[in-house]
Amino acid sequence: QPRVFSGIQPTGEIHLGNYFGAIRQWVRFQDEKKAGKYEQCIYSVVDLHAITIPQDRDVLEKNIFQAVATLLACGIDPNESILFLQSHVPLHPQLSWVLGCLSTMPQLGRLPNFRDKSKKLKEVPLGLYTYPVLQAADILLYNATHVPVGEDNVQQIQFAQLLAQRFNRIHGRTFNIPKIMLEGGMWCRLRSLRKPENKMSKSEPDAKSRIGLTDSPDEIVEKIKKSVTDFTSAVTYDPETRPGVSNLIMIHSLCSGQSAEEICNSVQDLDTGKYKFVVAEAVVEHLRPIRTKMIELMKEPAYLLDILKIGTEKAITLSEPVWNDVCFKVGISPSH
Ligand code: TYM
Repeated sequence: QPRVFSGIQPTGEIHLGNYFGAIRQWVRFQDEKKAGKYEQCIYSVVDLHAITIPQDRDVLEKNIFQAVATLLACGIDPNESILFLQSHVPLHPQLSWVLGCLSTMPQLGRLPNFRDKSKKLKEVPLGLYTYPVLQAADILLYNATHVPVGEDNVQQIQFAQLLAQRFNRIHGRTFNIPKIMLEGGMWCRLRSLRKPENKMSKSEPDAKSRIGLTDSPDEIVEKIKKSVTDFTSAVTYDPETRPGVSNLIMIHSLCSGQSAEEICNSVQDLDTGKYKFVVAEAVVEHLRPIRTKMIELMKEPAYLLDILKIGTEKAITLSEPVWNDVCFKVGISPSH
């Protein structure tokens, strides 16, 4: 039975990169589930992953609610998909422990996410190191077959595939090997508006580097107006040599559904300065309904918790048989 799993960290405001790289795909998978293509779509706000870097408790708590509200506002329907908070299902860290016993230190040390994040720290927390093991547990706990993510997660999912294979080899067939589902080709990586050589990220200190899904129209216009481009004034698409403008074209294309080529043809008479306003307008219009919905939902924390509670129950029901099978095969936790 094909099952979809994906997760998002409540580490800051969800931005356009998360939306176009991941969440929009999640909604599409949910639609395909309605059409019978998948048995379940399981989406998690992964708060245990969030604490692999230091968090302020009040901010984290607010970000958890905000992440849930964002997913709902973007079209995740709790009646169709299972939406839950990772820490509400204690089997995630339990399976992570079992998988950690199959992981080796050099493999984990080589993963790029760890290398990038640990470079900035004097002392590296163990949780950051084992992040990919917990991520693998998230996926394998539901025996997921499809994992929609942005490009920056590819190596982590490959690591999950490797652990699934290793477990199956040692203990006999247990896990599906999850497939990585990327949004068409290069479209899945949006860049920072300030440093277009980097990805758009929740953790870049400069908030002008990203567009949050609840940014006001004025903020969006301001951020795009100030975005870093280059010294060529024509609007042309070339991500290698012109990452800044190309990123704007990409954002425009994702919002409008036009191809990069169509866009470049239609704005031939504009320079990049004027083009920025066209992009800003497209983003503002695209985000308007999402923003309105989110602001509404953020006023209803009790409702958000109710939704999570229902999701948790469904998640536990799906994960228990997998966990019991793992325990039986490994020989731990005998129950009869
Ligand atoms: P997070 O919250 O950092 O990112 C959530 C999703 O957004 C994608 N993404 C981007 N896509 C395009 N352009 C960008 N600039 C950009 N920035 C982020 C990410 O690829 C991701 O799909 N490790 C996961 C969380 C996770 C998870 C899982 C995912 C934990 N367990 C199990 C899938 C399956 C992460 O990076 O979250």
